[in-house]
Amino acid sequence: MTVVVFGSINLDLVVEVPRLPIKGETVIGHRFFAAAGGKAANQAVAIAKLGIPVSLVGQIGEDSFGKTLIESLETAGVNTSGITVNSSTYSGIASIVVDETGANTIACAAGANNLVREREIEQLKNLLPQAEIVLLELGVPIATVLTAAREAKAHDCFLILDPAPVNSNLPEELFSLVDVITPNEVEASQLVGFTVDGVTTARQAASVLHQMGVKNVIITLGDRGSFYSTEEDSYWIKPIPVSVVDTVAAGDAFNGALAVALASGKSLREAVQWGTVGGALAVTKNGAQSSLPSKANFQELLNQQVIWDE
Ligand code: RIB
Repeated sequence: MTVVVFGSINLDLVVEVPRLPIKGETVIGHRFFAAAGGKAANQAVAIAKLGIPVSLVGQIGEDSFGKTLIESLETAGVNTSGITVNSSTYSGIASIVVDETGANTIACAAGANNLVREREIEQLKNLLPQAEIVLLELGVPIATVLTAAREAKAHDCFLILDPAPVNSNLPEELFSLVDVITPNEVEASQLVGFTVDGVTTARQAASVLHQMGVKNVIITLGDRGSFYSTEEDSYWIKPIPVSVVDTVAAGDAFNGALAVALASGKSLREAVQWGTVGGALAVTKNGAQSSLPSKANFQELLNQQVIWDE
């Protein structure tokens, strides 16, 4: 059984700065690099590096960025047969600024990601008979995400939705289709309409998301861990203390490890612990796909964790 990830693929253009610029300000950075990214692509790489077969469905342009992106996916072991190469558009790019605390801001030019439609749905349908888990994010058109969710459920797949980049006008039907939603605090705040900034407000947000139709909610709280809520139960999962270098793709590493745990037969609660390990390791390195943990590093940190939650 495999995992299918459906969504965005970007080339990340990263500038490291002493602090994030405020509106109207220019800040001089001290380093630039370009590297493979895109939320769905990062999630697929995270899964492949942890040893679970994974396919990515998405679209790139027929350009040099696209070649770099495919190369990075294939080096990690991701099946790229579901990726369309479109000669009439450009590959998605993300302009990323990272400060000395590892915090970031990201602006994307969607390019080919915006053209993910029927062709990619057909690719998804070809892969679904072998799939157990489908991972969706919102870097491609929402109408396509909804169709992908319907198809995944029609094949009885377990459906994870990373609601990023966040969109506060998601169709109600999407919430009832997903098995787990995994917003961070910013995304959760926009979905529920009030500020989520810790365990208390995460609990309130989870309850609103349940009312909206979501079965299981995981809200990642950065250095305060994660809050996980089912319709019967809820837990706070402690953070793992690490030295933060760059938080780009931490959420993707979390979602990837979550999917790997579920594909390995772990409970949702254990899967949140695996996600926490993935996210913790990703923030200790620069870049998106370059920061995703190897199986050996992942296993080592997973084995060290004894007390997880309260
Ligand atoms: O989640 C991180 C990703 O978000 C980056 O790789 C960038 O491409 C943006 O989509």
